[in-house]
Amino acid sequence: MLYKKTKLMFLVIISGYFFAANSIEPDINLITSSCSIENSQDIMPRFQICAPQIGDSAPSFRADSTDGLINFPKDFSGKWIILLSHPADFTPVCTTEFKKLAAINSDLKKANCQLVGISVDSTYTHKVWQNKLNADSSRKVDFPIISDPEGKIAKLYGMIHPKESKVQTVRSTYFIDPDYKIRAMFHYPSSNGRNFEEIKRLLYALQISRKENVATPANWQPGNKTISMEEVAKDVMPD
Ligand code: BEZ
Repeated sequence: MLYKKTKLMFLVIISGYFFAANSIEPDINLITSSCSIENSQDIMPRFQICAPQIGDSAPSFRADSTDGLINFPKDFSGKWIILLSHPADFTPVCTTEFKKLAAINSDLKKANCQLVGISVDSTYTHKVWQNKLNADSSRKVDFPIISDPEGKIAKLYGMIHPKESKVQTVRSTYFIDPDYKIRAMFHYPSSNGRNFEEIKRLLYALQISRKENVATPANWQPGNKTISMEEVAKDVMPD
């Protein structure tokens, strides 16, 4: 009896040990201190680590938007998605950005790409701003804008850069392919609007890379020569 009890306790202790050993969370401070970045104490580790990277699956979420409830990214199955954050509705730079987005959206649709906006503003505020933008222009903002009042999605995607603002999102842009994989991303500060011709160009470049397994050289435009992956592997220097 005593032998059985001792054996059971031993098994419980051993399995507890293995469970604990396998469930240790990564030490965020250790990860950042292993980078050789000067002033690494200046980096906010949590935000650095949470942001998804190229090749990762796009984090999924459900959220309210100007088009109703969105189940992201599944609601856009089969399409490319460009998910863009902006700091706030009704602000000058954001207004210029949304006008440019409305202007390029027909090209993006032809390229099987869905635009999705997001900020911490409410759906009501988004709708009032959207109506105002649409009243002022023939090119309509006809894509959903997600409301993320608590910044939960923004944090999931690394769109809040606390030194810029602890509450509002920066100008983040994520390119997500039809397999829901992140293919590119970039972040601009609130002070500087994005170049939407570049966003379109990058979408076309990512699409051709995925379809034809090729790379695209600097300043590549649709119709220009691409670089085969064999050439890339051989380190052939282009002329
Ligand atoms: C803007 O869109 O104009 C803007 C928003 C937040 C900070 C700075 C500028």
